[in-house]
Amino acid sequence: MNRKDIYKGIPFDKIPWKRETPPDILINTMSLAPLSSHLLDLGCGLGHYAAYFAQKGYKISGIDISHTAIKYAKQLFETKKLKGDFYGLDLCKPTNIALPPIKLAYEFEVLHHIYPEYRERYVQNVCKLLSEKSYYLSISFSEKDQNFGGKGKYRKTPIGTELYFSSVKEVQDLMSKYFRILEIKEIELEGKPIPHQAVFCLMQKVKF
Ligand SMILES: C[S@@+](CC[C@H](N)C(=O)[O-])C[C@H]1O[C@@H](n2cnc3c(N)ncnc32)[C@H](O)[C@@H]1O
Repeated sequence: MNRKDIYKGIPFDKIPWKRETPPDILINTMSLAPLSSHLLDLGCGLGHYAAYFAQKGYKISGIDISHTAIKYAKQLFETKKLKGDFYGLDLCKPTNIALPPIKLAYEFEVLHHIYPEYRERYVQNVCKLLSEKSYYLSISFSEKDQNFGGKGKYRKTPIGTELYFSSVKEVQDLMSKYFRILEIKEIELEGKPIPHQAVFCLMQKVKF
C-alpha cells in the first residue's frame, strides 16, 4: 500500500486525477440516493466530487489518508460555503468515528492503492462505517488495462506510486464476504491522456 501522503511534493494542478466534475458513471449512480441523503466519499482526495454533490443538495462526509488532501477539501468547502465533514484517516485501520446513516458510499480510484494483504481490513472498516441497506460503489483499475504502467498486477505510475490492478473475480471474492453485489463489470473510464479499464462494483450492505 502507498502509505505516504501522495499529495506532498506534487503541485495540485499536476495531479492526474484532479477533476472538478465527477464522471458520469458516478453521477448516474446517485439516482439510488435521494437528494439530502448522506453520502460518504471514501478516499475523497481534494474533495471536488464531494463539493459537486454537496452543491446538488446531498449531505456529505469524506475520508482520506492524506492530511494534505483533507486540509484542501476543508478549505474548498469553506470557500464555496458548503457543509461537509472531513476526516484524515487510514481506512485500513479501525476507526471510532460516528457517522450519520449513510445512504451511499463511493470510492473512486482508491482500491488500487490498497494492496491485497490490506484489503480485507479495508473492506471490514468500510462495512462498519455503513448502515444496513447502504449502497457502496467501488471503481478501481482493472488488470485488463493494456496501457497504464505495463501489464502486470503491480504497476508504477508517473507520480511515483505503485498500484495494484485487480480482476473482476478478485473484487467479487473480496466484496461478497461483506456486501451483496448488485452489479459488477469492466468499464472504461476517461483518463489523462488515455482511457483506463476499471472494475465497477455496486453493492449493498445487507444482513447475511
Ligand atoms: C487516485 S486518488 C482518488 C481521489 C478521489 N477519489 C478522486 O477521484 O479525485 C486515491 C485517493 O485514495 C487515498 N487513499 C489511499 N489509500 C488510502 C487509505 N488507506 N485510506 C484512506 N484513503 C486512502 C489517497 O490519499 C488518494 O486521495
